[in-house]
Amino acid sequence: MILLRHPICGTLRGARSLSTRASAILSSLDIPVGAAELPGVYDGQWSGSGEVLESVCPATGEVLARVRSATPDELHEALGKSKEAYLHLRTVPAPKRGELLRQIREALSAKRDVLGALVTLEMGKIKTEGIGEVQEFVDICDYAVGLSRMMNGRVVASERPGHTILEVPNPIGVVGVLTAFNFPVAVYGWNFALSVAAGNANVWKPSPSTPLCSIAITKIIARVLEKNGLPGAVSTLITGGKNVGEAIVESRDIPLVSFTGSEAVGRVVGKAVQSRFGKSILELGGNNASIIMPDADMQLAVPAVFFGAIGTAGQRCTSTRRLYLHRAIAPKFLDTLQKLYATINVGDPLVDGTLLGPLHTRAAVGIYSDAVQRLRQSGAEILTGGKTYDHAALSQGNFVQPTISVPKTADPADKIWSTETFAPILNVGLFDELEQAIEWNNAVPQGLSSSLWTRDIRNLGKWIGPEGSDAGIVNVNVGTSGAEIGAAFGGNKVYAWKQYVRWSACTVNFSDAAPLAQGVDFST
Ligand code: UN1
Repeated sequence: MILLRHPICGTLRGARSLSTRASAILSSLDIPVGAAELPGVYDGQWSGSGEVLESVCPATGEVLARVRSATPDELHEALGKSKEAYLHLRTVPAPKRGELLRQIREALSAKRDVLGALVTLEMGKIKTEGIGEVQEFVDICDYAVGLSRMMNGRVVASERPGHTILEVPNPIGVVGVLTAFNFPVAVYGWNFALSVAAGNANVWKPSPSTPLCSIAITKIIARVLEKNGLPGAVSTLITGGKNVGEAIVESRDIPLVSFTGSEAVGRVVGKAVQSRFGKSILELGGNNASIIMPDADMQLAVPAVFFGAIGTAGQRCTSTRRLYLHRAIAPKFLDTLQKLYATINVGDPLVDGTLLGPLHTRAAVGIYSDAVQRLRQSGAEILTGGKTYDHAALSQGNFVQPTISVPKTADPADKIWSTETFAPILNVGLFDELEQAIEWNNAVPQGLSSSLWTRDIRNLGKWIGPEGSDAGIVNVNVGTSGAEIGAAFGGNKVYAWKQYVRWSACTVNFSDAAPLAQGVDFST
């Protein structure tokens, strides 16, 4: 079914004409709707006179805003301000930083639905998912508020009498946060909340195609910082392209860089940061599989695969891209899944009831079409989808049909299986034994999320043990996407804050002697 009910031709306001749907959202977030250009740099002050970034609505093709990114001088200035902000924030006690995060949480929560709508407008995901993403930011703030009173070091027993060793977590410095288009709010949130609890200032470079989300979030955070008399550059924003990313990655004033995005860029970022002995946190691609055993509860498994493959139009790094079905239940499962695919409401992601919005960019439509063509050429059976929508109401947006295909072979080395395509394409393979499916699950280069559907505890044991899934997220009767903040990512979130601090090992001598360790005698 095709839904496109919103009025998308707009009223004229100020220098630029903007649709009513867009101007209502932007003005609720204090983003000027009439301005010809918006400043895209914040370091306590708003500036921006560099190259122009265009924010384009993926559903309608409407240019939502033109944003001025940083010139090299502005970039330099903003990095300097962030360093000063860090020097201040590191002296603020951690529980006080927690109180700051509590206020930011309240401010975000008050605007949750309209921020979610902005995510929908600019990124293209449906409304409930846009709101869910802002909720993730709220949740991680809650988490970090508690954390601000629990970032404990250890006291280590010393081998020397009258000595003790303290492991002290201290703030690390300025943290560079490079985020991707598909979660234009939450990814900054995960980093920012933990990093601020740890006492760091942050420099955010968002995806060049989602500048408005980053401006809206920065405005909300900036107001809270200001109210608390803290420097705005605790949450510096620098919109821009490759040059901004490179400056952050290469800056010796940024000891930790957190990057979310493609494997290809992640490899470059990781190497560059490593070469200056900086630390990096890389959240890269996923090529996630769901495995369905014959004893699975199909009432639960089918909708979970449906959401995993089509949610966010297949543009989550946790999206389900591979479906391994036990041969005994494959025909029935596919039949039910196809029936569900046939009911999907596609259209304006801001309209309630839409389940499939557009891909984020025109380029992504090309990537989808190429992948489908490759499938066809290799003799895969396309069970459903495989085309863009030609309906007039959708022609201005980047809408593609969700696709289920059964490739000729399930060989995981085949490019069809080993490549992550950021689009709603689900490839299906049939297996006879769980061991075979686990082998396929593990055989691809990406290892983010995985999901097994079974009621048999023996399968569960195999799946989560040493012979099981090698992905970071190993779910049972839960789909591949939609991890909670406490569990994301790769099962180590509980300790994630430890990445945002530098650890000092402090040996303290309380005695009247100064013995050397290991019994070394250096007396004259
Ligand atoms: C991503 O796609 O980059 O688990 C992150 C999930 C979301 C996060 C996805 N909480 O699907």
